Amino acid sequence: MAQITEVAPDLFRLTTFLAPFNLQFSQFLVRDEQPLLFHTGPRALFAEVKEAVASLIDVRTLRWIGFSHFEADECGSLPDWQQVAPQADAVCSLVGKMVSVDDCLALRPAKGMADGEVLQTGRYRFQFLATPHVPHCWESGLLFEETHRTLLCSDLFHQAGNGEPLTHSDVVGRCREVLMEYQQGPLANYMPYCTLTGPTLARLAALQPKTLATMHGSVYAGDGAQALRDLAHVFREVLGGGATMTTSSPS
Ligand SMILES: [Fe+2]
Ligand SMILES: [Fe+2]
Repeated sequence: MAQITEVAPDLFRLTTFLAPFNLQFSQFLVRDEQPLLFHTGPRALFAEVKEAVASLIDVRTLRWIGFSHFEADECGSLPDWQQVAPQADAVCSLVGKMVSVDDCLALRPAKGMADGEVLQTGRYRFQFLATPHVPHCWESGLLFEETHRTLLCSDLFHQAGNGEPLTHSDVVGRCREVLMEYQQGPLANYMPYCTLTGPTLARLAALQPKTLATMHGSVYAGDGAQALRDLAHVFREVLGGGATMTTSSPS
């Protein structure tokens, strides 16, 4: 079963460490009147994640399945979840719904969110932020919980290894390390550095999140605005400058 940690009130981190990738995969469950799961995890982890969710709520009551972008760890097991939770609808960006999710994956039409739209789950309100190409993919979006100021930030602040569930210490340095490492191998250019990168991270910083709930690595509790500004510097340095190019020049 995935490891469970309550990282903010009613927000549970469900984590599995996969040694071959040296990486944690976390999903987040919001326990509320309309329970929300953010990230499904890949299909291979469905049984472990389901067991963890079932220890917290009746799985059949799951109402929303959110994710940032179209990728196995974000939404790969969406159909499995929709089979065990007959009222569960996907919630993603309008682009995600229109371009991929309704056609390729969801058993029922997804709720496509516009930038700034709010999803109310009961006690909690989640602001949807369209963040194209941040962390990556056109359809990318994030959710921000307004009461406890938690940013569900997907691949942002990605850290390697099997770290602690929650930390108050630096996660940006750890993220820089793994980005530098990835630049040397087949996972180079994990995230694009584009005209939207800096402004999007600045916009997220302006929300002043207190908790950064990342998919890979430790959740950060502290000055989220500063962490996001620091992350913007790291992205510019590692991904926007002298990043290793993976294409060879014609001879
Ligand atoms: Fe991703
Ligand atoms: Fe991911």
